[in-house]
Amino acid sequence: MQTEVIATDDRVDLRFPTGFWWGAATAAYQIEGAASVDGRSPSIWDTFSATPGKTVAGHTGEEATDHYHRYRQDVSLMSEIGLSAYRFSVSWPRVQAGGRGPANPAGIGFYDRLVDELMERGINPVATLYHWDLPQALEDEGGWLNRDTAHRFGDYAALMAERLGDRVKLWCTLNEPWCSAFLGYGSGVHAPGRIDPAGSLAAAHHLLLAHGLAVRRVRAIAPSAQVSIALNQGAVRAVTDSPADLDAARRIDGLLNRLFLDPILRGSYPADVLADTKDVTDWAFVQPGDLAVISTPIDMVGANYYQPDLVSAAEEPATGPWPFPGSESVAFHKTPGPQTAMDWTIDPTGLRDLLLRLRRDYNDVPVIITENGAAYADRIDDDGRIPDAERIEYLHAHFAAAHEAIEAGVDLRGYFVWSLLDNFEWALGYDKRFGLIHVDYATQQRTLKESAHWYRRTIAEGGLPR
Ligand code: NOJ
Repeated sequence: MQTEVIATDDRVDLRFPTGFWWGAATAAYQIEGAASVDGRSPSIWDTFSATPGKTVAGHTGEEATDHYHRYRQDVSLMSEIGLSAYRFSVSWPRVQAGGRGPANPAGIGFYDRLVDELMERGINPVATLYHWDLPQALEDEGGWLNRDTAHRFGDYAALMAERLGDRVKLWCTLNEPWCSAFLGYGSGVHAPGRIDPAGSLAAAHHLLLAHGLAVRRVRAIAPSAQVSIALNQGAVRAVTDSPADLDAARRIDGLLNRLFLDPILRGSYPADVLADTKDVTDWAFVQPGDLAVISTPIDMVGANYYQPDLVSAAEEPATGPWPFPGSESVAFHKTPGPQTAMDWTIDPTGLRDLLLRLRRDYNDVPVIITENGAAYADRIDDDGRIPDAERIEYLHAHFAAAHEAIEAGVDLRGYFVWSLLDNFEWALGYDKRFGLIHVDYATQQRTLKESAHWYRRTIAEGGLPR
């Protein structure tokens, strides 16, 4: 006699809402390769990574994971994992050579095919319009220091919405504009590598203006699509409750979080940030009407989260990636605890806290986790498996933290693991592996890590054990 097998989901204590998007994310320059084919023009990251000393071991995105030629296989792997959504970015210099003019048919055609492939597999396409690869020709005209770049971005967003607006479910205008502005134009550790404190604030404003213009263009062309922005958000904590340390946390929260959230969701810049930075700039680059454009309503806000920020008051100006206007009197500390291969502290309470804060301070805004994940020194074992138990533990803990936020009332729509594939980790090159899927860069062979199998089970069951 056959024993009756009853399908059971008893092991799922933390169930996610129906319709929750279980996703993974990537970015064009980090995975596509094919940097000089089909009319793609150079971006600031081609220039920056080709400059000696700018990236670890001189790595570039020239070949990356060759996703441009292997996207069908990659979509099939997404389907094997069971993803319900995939967040990719569009390479602006691939679509519009030099950042202006008509679309390059070959370049835009690639995204058209990618989106069709996703749709065929039942995976919701989420397109980020700008993940840091500004056309070099626009940088030559001032890049994000030049207000006109925001208008060029609006035109490019319209081209993309015209072509993909019937299928892309969610658009993310920008990815981590804090990085573009402050790492690109402040500390210079990212492309275009400029060190210009006042310029970094102008760049932040022009990026925000670009966001608002793009929201309007996309909405006009694709009214049924949803629109968002992926912000790197910090849970900023003070080392002690002393007034000086709390003030240091306020400053960093201002520059990292509220400088972006407030204009987008409230239509104004935070008064304390304007005051903290008044010696560097008079903010004359903010023109009448800009804030109305920037605060054009969005459907949800995207949060990229990796670790909390721990700060205190300091006598000496901050060093490292943070010598930015307004942060001079702040010292940065490592939150104690285990760390990933990026030396980032693992602390899922930071994710929970920032989600709760968005709900509390920004009127219950719907949220989507546009990135979360961890780099580890993964190795293939003798059986060809990649036993990345630490990544599983990291993801489990962060999904559980997100669940806690949902229970507390946060309207969380989905979660994109960073990243689908191992890829080019910007200035740190290929050594930092964030993928659910391992890439052998010599052969371009893809192998699902144990974490990808864990994710497949989690998605299939709709949640996690406690
Ligand atoms: C955020 C960025 O959006 C992504 O490009 C990067 O690879 C990850 N963080 C990890 O550093």
